[in-house]
Amino acid sequence: MAKMKQVVLRAHPRGNPVPQDFAVEEVDIPSPGPGEILVRTIWLSLDPLIRFALDEKPLTGIARVGLGDPVYGGTVSKVVESNHPDYAVGDMVEVRSGWREYAVVEPAKQVMNFRKLDPAMKPLSAALGLLGMPGQTAHAAVIEIGRVAAGETVIISAAAGAVGSFAGQIAKMLGARVIGIAGGPAKCKALIDLSFDACVDYKAPDFEAKLAAAVPDKIDVYLDNVGGDVSMKVLPHLKHGARMPIIGFISYYGDGMEAPGPDKLPGFLRFVMSRGLEVRGFPGAMTAGPKALVELADWLASGKIRNVEAVVDGLENAPAAFAGKFGSNDHIGKLLVRVGEE
Ligand SMILES: NC(=O)c1ccc[n+]([C@@H]2O[C@H](COP(=O)([O-])OP(=O)(O)OC[C@H]3O[C@@H](n4cnc5c(N)ncnc54)[C@H](OP(=O)(O)O)[C@@H]3O)[C@@H](O)[C@H]2O)c1
Repeated sequence: MAKMKQVVLRAHPRGNPVPQDFAVEEVDIPSPGPGEILVRTIWLSLDPLIRFALDEKPLTGIARVGLGDPVYGGTVSKVVESNHPDYAVGDMVEVRSGWREYAVVEPAKQVMNFRKLDPAMKPLSAALGLLGMPGQTAHAAVIEIGRVAAGETVIISAAAGAVGSFAGQIAKMLGARVIGIAGGPAKCKALIDLSFDACVDYKAPDFEAKLAAAVPDKIDVYLDNVGGDVSMKVLPHLKHGARMPIIGFISYYGDGMEAPGPDKLPGFLRFVMSRGLEVRGFPGAMTAGPKALVELADWLASGKIRNVEAVVDGLENAPAAFAGKFGSNDHIGKLLVRVGEE
């Protein structure tokens, strides 16, 4: 029987994930049953939130990855066998089929992140980035939740990541002054090259001074991907009534919700109350909806925004690429693993 590679969870991460938490194994390529399709993975998305699924006791609402289970994740895949009338061999789909080279999928059971892709989408990998969930999340953060207007000052944490780099470009397109926060001078330079007005390196010893200098008139909208220390340092620079869409809180993902203190909640709530902050969480794809995908595609086609992505080759390199997301990589934009050729 023909074999394929898959990445399974070897150990529940303690703190930020490391490559040794995962193992690459060879298994038989599965066969599709009635109503099912067999897909071959081309692009694999490594989303930070998967970190929660790797915990022994994940947060409520997150499907758990058990020891020895393949890690789940969104992919762009090609249908290579079909027992379903709506899917033909050669069709391209976005599907949450996981960190593996092939997967059997039952279309009738897919509730989210499943769609047939238009083969004209260029590049197809954008279905996992700008023209998919991260793009919708950036759209929702800037437009539906952040309500960014021309002339406002917008600051974005994890600005060099997928959502941050897309959100910054959208805010800039709307006429805002956009400041990124990212780790290291290379990422900051890349964001300026992309269209950001300024970028502050949160790993530099003079972060707080540089941050204050970058926002002399204070901040109207803080798009927060990170939480923790970075956000505590941004809060004093927010205007009264500033909007603060909570996109994510990656600085906590490694520790989990029950990490030992110090408890930052009182300090955070003090700012929420005294500055009259409008703090709002949201599910990006649902908030922005399919209409946002049409707009994003238009902006991409007309050159108003760019699809920024970084590619790591080979499924076996997915664990190290995933581990690097937690503060030690040098990628800009959406990080993808190229598992197979289109
Ligand atoms: N609400 C939603 O529906 C939704 C949808 C998608 C994503 N999200 C969330 O949005 C956030 C960004 O997602 P993404 O896909 O854009 O992520 P991404 O492309 O993986 O980028 C994440 C970046 O976060 C930075 N980072 C990691 N740990 C950090 C820390 N302790 N302090 C400061 N920065 C840190 C790193 O960049 P540096 O090198 O700059 O540190 C890393 O590259 C995540 O929190 C994710 O869970 C939410």
